Amino acid sequence: MTYKPELGVCYYPEHWPEETWSEDARRMVEMGLSWVRVGEFAWSQLEAEPGVLTFEWLDRAVHSLASAGLKIIMCTPTATPPRWMLDRHPDMLAWDEGGRPRGFGSRRHYDFAHQGYREESVRITRLMGERYGRHPSIMAWQTDNEYGCHDTTLSYSPVAKVAFQSWLESKYETIANLNKRWGTIFWSMEYNRFDQIELPNLTVTEPHPAHVMDFRRFASDQVVDFNQLQVDVLRELTDADLLHNYMGRITDFDHYDVGDSLDIATWDSYPLGFLEDRSDRDDAYRAAFAREGDSDFQCFHHDLYRSVGKGRWWVMEQQPGPVNWAPHNPAPKPGQVRQWTLDAFDHGAEVVSYFRWRQLPYGQEQMHAGLLRPDGALSEGGKEVAALAKELETYTRPELTQAKVAIVFDYASQWAWEVQPQDKNFDYFRLILDVYSGLRKQGHDVIDILSPTTKNFNEYKAIFIPGLFAWTDELRAAMAQFEGELIIGPRSGSRTEDFHIPDTLPPGLDGLKVTAIDTVRLESSLPLKGKGHVQIWRENIETNWSVISQTTDGKPARIKSKNMTYWAGWPDEEGLSDWVKPFAI
Ligand code: GAL
Repeated sequence: MTYKPELGVCYYPEHWPEETWSEDARRMVEMGLSWVRVGEFAWSQLEAEPGVLTFEWLDRAVHSLASAGLKIIMCTPTATPPRWMLDRHPDMLAWDEGGRPRGFGSRRHYDFAHQGYREESVRITRLMGERYGRHPSIMAWQTDNEYGCHDTTLSYSPVAKVAFQSWLESKYETIANLNKRWGTIFWSMEYNRFDQIELPNLTVTEPHPAHVMDFRRFASDQVVDFNQLQVDVLRELTDADLLHNYMGRITDFDHYDVGDSLDIATWDSYPLGFLEDRSDRDDAYRAAFAREGDSDFQCFHHDLYRSVGKGRWWVMEQQPGPVNWAPHNPAPKPGQVRQWTLDAFDHGAEVVSYFRWRQLPYGQEQMHAGLLRPDGALSEGGKEVAALAKELETYTRPELTQAKVAIVFDYASQWAWEVQPQDKNFDYFRLILDVYSGLRKQGHDVIDILSPTTKNFNEYKAIFIPGLFAWTDELRAAMAQFEGELIIGPRSGSRTEDFHIPDTLPPGLDGLKVTAIDTVRLESSLPLKGKGHVQIWRENIETNWSVISQTTDGKPARIKSKNMTYWAGWPDEEGLSDWVKPFAI
């Protein structure tokens, strides 16, 4: 199916005089935009005091935008509870790992587990749904904003503690069961009752890995539940598509789980901010690509969110110029905003929407570019978007090619290896991105990212499963009936769900045992016979599989049996390029 990709913009009418709304709407349409997102942080303007509702201005803003012919994305404003909310719920703040409440004065200041705030979130969602749910121009709804951003998934508050204890009780039923499955006999950590279990911060040395792993699962579930509450209300009140705007490299909650209840996944794409702020690239790369961003990082997220959205995905916030929040905030090079937009369409995006309409001259983001300058003239990015919109009038996105290869990406594995890295450089996300980048270099422009509950692999030639914490039944079944190539490891299947080393030793594949682990400093990486090195992680193995690569000390590094290849170490860029060559397009 081919279709016309669309452009949009994030707009905050409450920031601008009402007289400008119609003119703004007219200019959006003139620029070639078809979608506009509103309402996202507007709670204090909708309800300045508890129960005092002033939705009339939003009615008028919606009317202006809709009359101009724009399609509207309405947002629930729950990422920014107003100040009075804290008076009502003084214990609603999340606490940091040091045991301090995270204060009012920016945004996302709430604990996902707080019952009172959950009720407030349902209340405001219902009020908005009742008022706008059937509006013909409101064609999508966004829940909250960027769950997990600013490190807000994990909270160590007293509220979270009580919720965690009852989460544990439902999971384990008896304390004896928890003690056995965690293995609390170690260091005499056995519990008598669920209400003795603290959150895993402020311990003297490292807390028990099974304890932390369950805390991470619990925290992820709180996000899923919080989102589900809004979804349940909105489903009653609207038939429009429901979506959320996820972020780049936020891994503290399971996005597949949140995505299950929504119709579309969207994400906020800040290529230059991400390169500076959250990529693993070295300084030379950062300098070289400062105005373009890291294309592998970007495209990985496009592919990830296509999967989280079960095929339907958008960019909700595209950087249109310099941002304000990274250590360096360069301007994109000429043509780059156009390029980012087309990259997203090439990965299957239905809509690319820019953040934001007009640069705001006050507040935390006064240095953040918009499509318009603060004086209302088009910014450099705005000019580019206007020209691109013209270009898109005659552009039909080519049909998305079916990916030939896929990578299993599992949020729980990220948590597990944060809990127990063993080497400070063992970062699961980085391992996944290394494999993704290696495959892109072999000509794969679209790579599917699969959840660990994927039930079959039949569409693919090869599946990569690096660094997987624990096998799931679904993956085992999908692997058993797959006839293509399976590339597994390093570290895959090395723990049980309960965070134990499996009795038969990892990875749980016939004819292969990982008998010992050796971590390798980057500066002393081990040369491979052939190309590249093994770095960070190397496994000693016993096997009857065929050895296809060795390190120069004669140890097996890559082995094969039938359609399965196992990587007994983490190859560097050169080694990885060599190992994935057989899968070149
Ligand atoms: C996003 C956020 C927006 C805005 C933007 C600035 O993370 O959703 O509200 O803050 O960053 O780049």
